[in-house]
Order: sequence, then structure tokens, then C-alpha cells
Amino acid sequence: MDESLFQTTSTDNLRFLLLLTGPDMDLVEEQLQHLGVSHIGYGVMPKHYPLMEKALFDTLQDTLEDRLTPKVKESWNTVYTFMSVTMMQGAFASLKAEVASSKRQ
Ligand code: HEM
Repeated sequence: MDESLFQTTSTDNLRFLLLLTGPDMDLVEEQLQHLGVSHIGYGVMPKHYPLMEKALFDTLQDTLEDRLTPKVKESWNTVYTFMSVTMMQGAFASLKAEVASSKRQ
């Protein structure tokens, strides 16, 4: 992996990610929101996302060893944060819609 591709802060990383993906990001967001909804069905709650993050970083550490530099770690952190927040947004929006429709009945 070419580390020079990655910037130093999460905001810079996100800007770079948006630049690379362009309009495709809307589709990525939509898919992740759906994935968040399917995770409700698997019994996944918000408190589980940090546990998954720890498992991911432990695995990255075991696999990459000294190649898991601070920049690479920060980049993975940006990706995981973006994915998990978007999944939780999708899950929350779906629960909100479900509650609103049950109130109408
Ligand atoms: C960024 C975070 C995550 C991503 C990208 C992700 C991705 C996926 C994907 C692609 C699937 C395949 C099924 C589907 O498409 O619905 C899946 C299934 C599943 N995930 Fe996640 N997941 C994430 C977080 C979590 C967390 C936090 C948990 C709970 C600790 C979890 C538990 C599960 C379970 C139980 C299944 C079903 C497995 C099965 O039925 O074989 N996931 N996940």
C-alpha cells in the first residue's frame, strides 16, 4: 500500500475518499444503510460496533505487524468509522420509520 496516498487527519482522509469515489459514494452510503438494517435482524446493537472495531484492529495488528504504521491505522480508522456510522444511521432511520408507522395504525 502506498502510504503517501493517505493524509494525516480523518477529515483529510474522508475528503480524499470522497474525491476518489465521487458520485459512487451515494450508492456506497445506501448499501451501508441497508447493511445496517440487516444487522438489526442479526441482533447487532450500537454497543457491538466498537467491539468489532477492536477485533478488526487486533487482526490488522497480527497480520500487518510493523506495516501497521500510524498512517495506515488512521486510514483504517477512517474507513471503519465511516462504515459503522453509516450502518447505524440506516438502522436508526429504519427503526424510526417503523415506530412512526406503528403510531399511525
Ligand atoms: C463496519 C461494520 C460491519 C460490516 C461492514 C459488516 C458486514 C457484514 C456483511 C457484508 C454481512 C453479510 C450478510 C449481509 O449482507 O447482511 C454481515 C453479516 C453479519 N454480521 Fe456484520 N458487519 C459489520 C459489523 C458487525 C457487528 C458490529 C456485528 C456484531 C458484533 C456483526 C455481526 C454480523 C452477523 C451476526 C452476521 C450474520 C452472519 C451469518 O448469518 O452468517 N457485524 N456483516
